[in-house]
Amino acid sequence: MKKIVIHGGNPLYGTTQVNGSKNAALPILFATLLLDSPVRLHNISYLQDCLTTFQLLRILGSTVEYTQEMHSVYIIPHITQHEAPYDLVKTMRASILSLGPLLAKVGKAQVALPGGCAIGSRPVALHLEALQKMGVQYTIEEGYIVAQCDALHGASINFAFPTVGGTENILMAATLARGETVIHNAAKEPEIVDLANFLIEAGARIEGHGSDTIYIQGVDTLNIAQYSIMPDRIEAGTLMIAGIITDGELVIERCPIHTLGAVVEVLEYMGGSVEEIDEGIVKVKRSGPLVSAHVETLPYPDFPTDMQAQIMALMCIAKGRSTITETIFENRFMHVQELARMGAHIEISGHKAVIQGVENLNGAPVMASDLRASASLVLAGLVAEGVTEIDRIYHLDRGYEALEERLRLLGATIERISL
Ligand code: EPZ
Repeated sequence: MKKIVIHGGNPLYGTTQVNGSKNAALPILFATLLLDSPVRLHNISYLQDCLTTFQLLRILGSTVEYTQEMHSVYIIPHITQHEAPYDLVKTMRASILSLGPLLAKVGKAQVALPGGCAIGSRPVALHLEALQKMGVQYTIEEGYIVAQCDALHGASINFAFPTVGGTENILMAATLARGETVIHNAAKEPEIVDLANFLIEAGARIEGHGSDTIYIQGVDTLNIAQYSIMPDRIEAGTLMIAGIITDGELVIERCPIHTLGAVVEVLEYMGGSVEEIDEGIVKVKRSGPLVSAHVETLPYPDFPTDMQAQIMALMCIAKGRSTITETIFENRFMHVQELARMGAHIEISGHKAVIQGVENLNGAPVMASDLRASASLVLAGLVAEGVTEIDRIYHLDRGYEALEERLRLLGATIERISL
């Protein structure tokens, strides 16, 4: 079992870079199933979720060659079977994104129903209802979605909730469907825009991506030789908080600052300084004492749920009473009890957490429960007095590449140990 051990208290100084976005890479990797020729993808981070997706694409029939040091993957798309097995899907619920491309390309798909995970039940009914409108029939058999369609056709889809994965599945399916598809109440996250840009460069006819209404005209074939994935805005936001919580000063390169408006607003309100010193280069530090704030997680462009656990760590040592209302997932406060073990004063009532700032946190053995919770515990450990040991760090490796190595280069006393 691997752990991360942090001796807190070191302010972080120096320059670091943001890696390629996990939540843009995953849908684009699945979108390669739609292509009729090979593609090379750049800026693909070395993350467990990317490795899991490579494995799933190989099981479906594609050739996938990843070069870790180059952060690049060469894919020869090919579909020889259409089943996404449960033992893979249970480790990464984004496997559901194989559904749209398989149905568009070969007219059938057998994808294990993604179970829930630590942060919620994670249903996919909105994906399935939308695909049904496009001509897909499906049954649920022994925990698998067994779907098929004779000829996928365009439809007018109206999502009850701007689901990111649902928007991505329908966007991918619609590119090869016959006729026009309109997605109303579409998700507007930057990762949707990156996926749409990839598909448009491959020949898809898409308009409105990034807004709440997306128009797609089906085409016959998609081909693209190479594409570079956008930087990871959630990793960027996490690094910003690392600089501010430790009272250091960081320069963050390849930083997609314009996709982090709501996060920057909260950080500046709380006493952080976030300054774009050049295109994609941001300097972060404290501008004064840390003060409390009130945050509600909402779909883009409002405050992202994927930054909720991380901002909570900062609120733990901000003077005054902060609140966080989590409106996206039903159980995304698993980090609260672990932060409390470090001396944080946090009360939960339903979807709302109330954080009473304390002078300092104290190092303690804690346990990661999900990806962003693990990032929150690292941030808390960086500023806590004493030693913090974080267990189950495989959660961290799903979404952050070698985070402890990068933080060590910035002055943190942090290491990964194997027990
Ligand atoms: C994507 O998950 C991200 N994952 C999540 O990031 C992110 O938290 C989430 O979007 C919201 O921004 C990837 O991109 C791989 P949703 P997704 O469909 O697609 C409900 C991380 O830490 N819902 O927008 O699953 C659902 O239960 C991960 O990187 C339905 O009810 O998000 C949830 O409460 C965690 N029915 C809410 O919508 C459906 O059919 C948001 O889900 C679909 C979703």
